[in-house]
Amino acid sequence: MALSPQLILHVLLVALLGLQSTVRADNFTPSSAAYYPNSKENGTGDGACGYRSFGATLNGGDVSAASVLYRNGVGCGACYQVKCTNANYCSDNGVTIVITDSGASGNTDFILSQRAFAEMGQTADAGASLLALGVVGIEFRRTSCSYPNKNISFKIDESSNYPHYLAFLILYQQGDQDINAVQLCETENLTCKLLDRSHGAVWTVVSPPSGPLSIRMLVGGGNGGDESWVVPLNNIPQDWQPGSTYDSGVQLN
Ligand SMILES: *[C@@H]1O[C@H](CO)[C@@H](O)[C@H](O)[C@H]1NC(C)=O
Ligand SMILES: *[C@@H]1O[C@H](CO)[C@@H](O)[C@H](O)[C@H]1NC(C)=O
Ligand SMILES: *[C@@H]1O[C@H](CO)[C@@H](O)[C@H](O)[C@H]1NC(C)=O
Repeated sequence: MALSPQLILHVLLVALLGLQSTVRADNFTPSSAAYYPNSKENGTGDGACGYRSFGATLNGGDVSAASVLYRNGVGCGACYQVKCTNANYCSDNGVTIVITDSGASGNTDFILSQRAFAEMGQTADAGASLLALGVVGIEFRRTSCSYPNKNISFKIDESSNYPHYLAFLILYQQGDQDINAVQLCETENLTCKLLDRSHGAVWTVVSPPSGPLSIRMLVGGGNGGDESWVVPLNNIPQDWQPGSTYDSGVQLN
């Protein structure tokens, strides 16, 4: 059977239009965003993820609370590209934020730091105009977190009580994957046990083993890829201290 050029063109057009209506190549989801009214500039130091003061300045202060995307704490540390849609004010790329808190304002998916909210503007003036609007239409997508020159690190939370109670956070989570589970391993006999996520990005263990500890992370389930256990190069020292941060020696993709 000979295909006429007209028929070929027709088939191509139908295929192209079909693609356009079913798949958005850029994966953006429409929503709306507000900002923290009580933050002068940065995010909050008492966000639900438990980052404490670190949460205000993480990612240069480009942080956000999430409602549905908080996902009971699994969303803590995830990065999203958020761009507003008002063509008069909004830049093409918007801003990349890290989730540090849980919260909603009306139907918004995000409550940004004021700093991040204004950064969606084309200029500082446009940013000020956005702030004056309060709530704006946005589009967002999951994106990789980037912490140049940082390894994934474990911060021993101040609520810890050496040697009886260990609570820690995972900082500088690069890439676009989630940390779905955490194991605490004794390095001397390699016994591991799964930990509970206490809240947000905080993992806890009562009566932790003595000796150096290794914290393994099950990473995956973000924009793609299988889950796999990440084994740090460095251990948490035997005499870990509340408030201290320990470098894992590894990065996530
Ligand atoms: C906001 O965060 C930036 C970047 O870490 C920091 O330099 C600045 O001091 C912070 N501002 C306030 C008001 O906390
Ligand atoms: C592993 O070693 C630690 C420290 O020596 C000990 O407390 C623990 O009971 C050991 N676990 C097993 C399963 O042997
Ligand atoms: C990250 O870990 C590697 C391997 O242990 C180490 O060589 C490097 O200095 C660490 N990077 C930072 C910024 O600490």
